[in-house]
Amino acid sequence: MPMKRLLTTLTLLLAWIAAPAFAADTLRPPLLLIGTRANVQDLSGRWTYSKDLYRTGFTDINGWVAKSRMQRHRDVDVAAEESKPGPAFFEFDLDRGPAMDIPGAWNSATPELRYFDGLIWFQRRFDAAMKAGQRSFLRFEAVNYRAYVYLNGKEVGRHEGGFTPFIVEVTDTLRAQGNRLVVGVDSKHDANSVPGEITDWDLYGGITRPVKLIQTPATFIDDATLRLTEAGRLAGSLQLNGPQAANRAVNLRIAALNLTLPARTDANGEARFDVAAPASLKRWTPNAPTLYDVDFEADGDKIRDRIGFRTIAVRGSEILLNGQPIFLKGICIHEEEIGPNPARRVDDAAARRLLGEVKNGLHGNYVRLSHYPHNEAMLRVADEIGLLVWSEIPVYWTVNWDSPATLDLARRMQAETIYRDRNRASVVLWSIGNETPVAENRTRFHTALAETVRALDPSRLISAALLVERKGDTLHIADPLLKELDVIAVNTYAGWYGDDTLADVGKLRWEVPADKPLLFSEFGADAKAGFRDPALKRKFSEDYQVDYYRATLAMAAKVPTLRGLSPWVLKDFRSPRREHPVFQNGWNRKGLISETGQRKLAFDVLAEHYRSLK
Ligand code: GCU
Repeated sequence: MPMKRLLTTLTLLLAWIAAPAFAADTLRPPLLLIGTRANVQDLSGRWTYSKDLYRTGFTDINGWVAKSRMQRHRDVDVAAEESKPGPAFFEFDLDRGPAMDIPGAWNSATPELRYFDGLIWFQRRFDAAMKAGQRSFLRFEAVNYRAYVYLNGKEVGRHEGGFTPFIVEVTDTLRAQGNRLVVGVDSKHDANSVPGEITDWDLYGGITRPVKLIQTPATFIDDATLRLTEAGRLAGSLQLNGPQAANRAVNLRIAALNLTLPARTDANGEARFDVAAPASLKRWTPNAPTLYDVDFEADGDKIRDRIGFRTIAVRGSEILLNGQPIFLKGICIHEEEIGPNPARRVDDAAARRLLGEVKNGLHGNYVRLSHYPHNEAMLRVADEIGLLVWSEIPVYWTVNWDSPATLDLARRMQAETIYRDRNRASVVLWSIGNETPVAENRTRFHTALAETVRALDPSRLISAALLVERKGDTLHIADPLLKELDVIAVNTYAGWYGDDTLADVGKLRWEVPADKPLLFSEFGADAKAGFRDPALKRKFSEDYQVDYYRATLAMAAKVPTLRGLSPWVLKDFRSPRREHPVFQNGWNRKGLISETGQRKLAFDVLAEHYRSLK
C-alpha cells in the first residue's frame, strides 16, 4: 500500500481510537419541547422565496464575504433606515418575491424548481402575541437538508439533516409585530452527508414539515416520557428547562386510570416516575390500540401526550408483543402523499390515507417507514389506528464510513428521532441502515449506531435491512453486523433484478441463524398501473407483479424463522433513477397502488395473504 494511503488510513484509525468514549446524554438535543401544549402559533402558509444558485447570500466570488445587497437574511427595514437619506439598494426582495405553500418541497411548487438542487432563501412575516417573562422558540419539524435560520436579521440557529426536528430559541430576537423570519435551505447532499448524494427517492428540497412558534413560561417542561416495562411498571421521566428547574414539585396524571403521581426534580431539573401499572390498564395492540391521555404538570406549565402502553421483546426467533409471539404483516412506505404531484406534504389526512390502505386494505398490522424518520403525523396515526412501526435513519447504501463527523451526524439524527418518538407505542424497531455493503469501516460505523440506540432506548428492538449473499439456490447472510441486531432483516429481489425466473424463486433456500427473528424488509416488482399482459406476463405488467408476489410469498412461507414481511412498496414514488419512458417516467413503479391511489392487481394478492395469516 503506497505510503501516503497507509498514513491516511492510520490517521483515520487513530482518530477513531482517540474519539472520546460516547456519552449518550451528550446526544440529547438541546431543546425538545415535545408533547402537545398551549400557546403554539403555526407558521404554515405562503412563504416568499429567493433562489440562490450561486450562494450569493453566503459568499461572493473567491469566497469573499457576500455582498450585503445580496444577503437575504438581513433585516431590510433596519438596513433601509440606516441607509437614509439615500435609498437602500438590494438585489433581492423577499417582500415582493414569488411565494409557495409551506410546508412542502419546492420541487413540486413550480415547474421551474422541479430539479433545483441548491440554496433557496425563504421568508415568513408574522406578528407574535408576546407575554412578559415568557420564552419563545421556533420548532422546525424538518428542513431538507441544511437550514440556516435568521430572525429579524440575526442568525438564531442552523441544522443539518432533512428528517428530524430542531428548535431554536428566539426570546431575545422576537418582536410583537412584523417579524422577519428568513431560512436559507440548502438541499445539496455531499460525500459527508446522511444520506449520501445518490438515493432512490426524489430531491424534495425545502421546508417539508410545519414550523411553529412556541411560547413557554421561563421554566417549562421540555421533555416527558412514560412507558410500560417488562416488569409491568409504568416508568418515565420529566425534564424541566429554565432558571427554576431544580427541586420542583411536578405531577403525572392519567385520569382514565385514576392515577396521579407526584415527583420532584433533581438538581438537573429531572424527575422520575416509577409505579406498578394499574390492573385496569389496557395494553396497546394493533387490534386494540388503546391510548391514554397522560398529563405532565409543573406549576406554570402543562403538556399532554397520548400514549399507548405495550412491551416488545425477542425470545429466540420469536418477536413478542406484550409477551405474545406476533407476525408482522406490513409494507414499506415513503413519506410521499397520494397524488400526481406530491410535495412530501404528509399531514394528518395524508397519513390516514396511506396508513388506512395498510390497515383496512391490506389487513396489515405493521409498516416500515423507509428510509428516514417520517413526519410525526404518521407515527401518531399509526398509534391511533394500530400499526406497528419500523423507524429508520437514512444511513442508506453508502455514507462516509471513515468520517467521525459523519458518524456524529448519524448519531445525532438517531437521537433526535428517539427523543421525538419514544412515547409512540407503534414504534417497535429502530433501524440503523439500509443495504450497506459489508466492510470493516461500515460495520464499525453501524456498531457505533447500535451502541447509540441501546444507550438512548434499550426498550425497543434494533435492526437493519441487510444485503444477502447467494450460492446457487441458497441465500445466506454473512454479515458481522448480525451480532448487534435483535432482529435480522433482508432485502431480496430474486425474480425482479437478476435473471431468476419466478420458478427459480420457488427453489430458493435460506440459510439464516435459527436463534433470531427474520424479516423480509423488502421485495417487489415494478408494474405500471393499467398495463395488462395476461398472455405474455412481461415485466412492468400488473400480471407479472401478481405472479411475482405469489411466488415470493410462497417462498417466504417456507422460511422457518420468518416473523414478518414489508414488501417494497405501498405506493409508486418519485425517483430520478427510474427513467424508462413508457413504464416509469421518474417513478419507481413497485407500488401496490399507483401514485394517484389506484390499486394494482397484486394489492389483493398481498391482502388475501395477510387475511389468511391469523
Ligand atoms: C432497494 C432500496 C430501495 C429501492 C428499491 C428498488 O432495495 O432499499 O430504496 O427503491 O430497492 O430497487 O426499487
